[in-house]
Amino acid sequence: MTTPTDKLLFTPGPLTTSNTVKEAMLRDVGSRDADFVAVVGEIRQLLLALAGVRQAEGYEAILMQGAGTFGIESVISSVIPADGKLLIIINGAYGKRIRDIAGRHGIETAVIEVTENTQPNPQELRRRLADDSEITHVALVHCETSSGILNPLNEIGSVVKELGRTFIVDAMSSFGGIPLNVSEARIDFLISSANKCIEGVPGFSLVIADHEQLLAIDGWARTLSLDLLAQWKGLEEQGQFRFTPPTHAILAFREALRELDDEGGVAGRAARYAANHAALLRGMRRMGFCEYVPAESQSHIITAFLFPEDPRFEFTEFYQRLSSKGMLIYPGKLTEGDCFRIGNIGQIFESDIESLLTAIAATLLEMNLNMKNTEKDTTPSPDPSAPIEYEDYNSTSGNYDDTRVPIGLPIVLDLLASTTTPLKEQSILDAGCGTGTFLAGLQGRVGTIHGRELSEGMQQVAKERFANDPNVQIDQGSITELPHADESFDAIVCNQVLHHLDHGEGEGASADDFPNVESFFREAFRVLRPNGIVVINTSDHDQHRDGFWWAALIPAAIERMLRRFPSIETLEEISKRTGFVDSEIKVPFDEVLQGKNYLDPKGPLSAAWRAGDSTWSLVTGEELTHALDRVTSSLKDGSMAAFLEEREELRTKIGQTTFLAVRKP
Ligand SMILES: Cc1ncc(COP(=O)(O)O)c(C=O)c1O
Repeated sequence: MTTPTDKLLFTPGPLTTSNTVKEAMLRDVGSRDADFVAVVGEIRQLLLALAGVRQAEGYEAILMQGAGTFGIESVISSVIPADGKLLIIINGAYGKRIRDIAGRHGIETAVIEVTENTQPNPQELRRRLADDSEITHVALVHCETSSGILNPLNEIGSVVKELGRTFIVDAMSSFGGIPLNVSEARIDFLISSANKCIEGVPGFSLVIADHEQLLAIDGWARTLSLDLLAQWKGLEEQGQFRFTPPTHAILAFREALRELDDEGGVAGRAARYAANHAALLRGMRRMGFCEYVPAESQSHIITAFLFPEDPRFEFTEFYQRLSSKGMLIYPGKLTEGDCFRIGNIGQIFESDIESLLTAIAATLLEMNLNMKNTEKDTTPSPDPSAPIEYEDYNSTSGNYDDTRVPIGLPIVLDLLASTTTPLKEQSILDAGCGTGTFLAGLQGRVGTIHGRELSEGMQQVAKERFANDPNVQIDQGSITELPHADESFDAIVCNQVLHHLDHGEGEGASADDFPNVESFFREAFRVLRPNGIVVINTSDHDQHRDGFWWAALIPAAIERMLRRFPSIETLEEISKRTGFVDSEIKVPFDEVLQGKNYLDPKGPLSAAWRAGDSTWSLVTGEELTHALDRVTSSLKDGSMAAFLEEREELRTKIGQTTFLAVRKP
């Protein structure tokens, strides 16, 4: 659990930490007291275990006060002899920082530098080491946090060792979040920090060192306070830091290690971060953002996204707007390409990534930004009355069936059976068949079925689904103009389709406001045989307002939605105008359109869940933020259960959908 008032940190550190980690600091302990010394000893052993090694195998863990950079400077200034030469592999800012540190200490350096979105080539390293016998040490940044690129640690390590050099690795942002074994990677000195993937608080860095190499550096340190060997000796001989230790941060770190273990160790944590990363990429790509690093070289720690091409994009404003929504992202740190970065590490879960994506979508709208390369634009429509196809069925066709269920099938079968032609002999038109979910329910129970669908993506799914059934045919086209001869069908079913045809005027809309719906009825009348039946599945206005628990979260979008839905009375009027008689109404009170996922109280927090109902596509960015805040706070303060109960009581009285049947005389 995190502190509710803090902003969520989608940064590379310091990170959002658990309350229990923060609470562990609420003590004042003596730095030379036995209890504290024991904690330090325990931490050092646990760190070796995290690195996949033990002291008995010749490895040491050393804690060093200060930020991660202090740990790096401690290693660089301590482990390279006066006549040594350090080769630094650089593909980002942190590689450059190692070069700068070495420069400050007068250490001779060589570099292999590649562009910031390219992984270094181990063979090039082999050539350089073979050509330059003066190089004694090689430094690599494992996860180059400036871009999120993951460098090939083990491959580089084996080349370094094969050619007999010392291997220094900056694993600042990867240690604890990406499985690695110091021995297998042939690392002599690894540096990381308390406030990255182990999820402690800032205050010290840590070094895992090869014991023999450590003993060999005696007398090489160029500073007093960052002398690595002296620090190790202090910890080893008295169990103490040489200078004032960050006692509170150490206590927090002990708790953080416990929580890492509870999460399933590095593997468990890596799995969570990887899921965060996958959700982030999915959402950002949908909005049209592009990553700087190719997918195959990306880490699951942090991702650099290129600025949108729209010249109106201004990072400071983007950042501030997200910050005001409680989310902190990170600026770029690249020399080439304008980027911002989003971290997945710390106490961040997939639901937080979803909240961030929602906030970003809202921010794009607020800034009126035009996103190109949109895989699928999930951005809520800014102008709900604009004549757009408000849900892009081509892009939702892939997962459409995950979020909708064909409800009321028994009602439809009863109504069809009430006509003069026996069910098994009936020829049915499924007008607006979508991916064929409802059609599948009729398949085998009636004679022949013709599915017609306007969306290319949807009809393609349906076509493939029924390819082997000679009694089912699918074609693409509008239902306001039917290609069939007069009196071709015994029955027509039309499930949740009519709201795609017109944009009526809402509550007071009359039959005249739905000309396309009227065209459909006219065509339906023409292609039906005498005594044929049309069964429409729709939702009446009250059902929209009270038949869906979440409708109360987005009342303005519901009202916008109603403009598209002729009321039942309006439909009856249109049916009469077009020659139909004997209207009949049935409501399946027990069934819900979203099936088993419907009652998920966290549902609205997920973009995939929201995709299960078109209404959410009519929500503005601001409304969405407001709705999601309400869900989050009701979940937190425990009021969600009562809210759901109250809403469900209404639904069970009026249902979500209505079946209207009308007949051709
Ligand atoms: C790879 C890498 N190296 C070094 C550092 C510097 O660490 P600090 O900011 O704690 O000094 C960072 C910080 O993000 C890092 O990611």
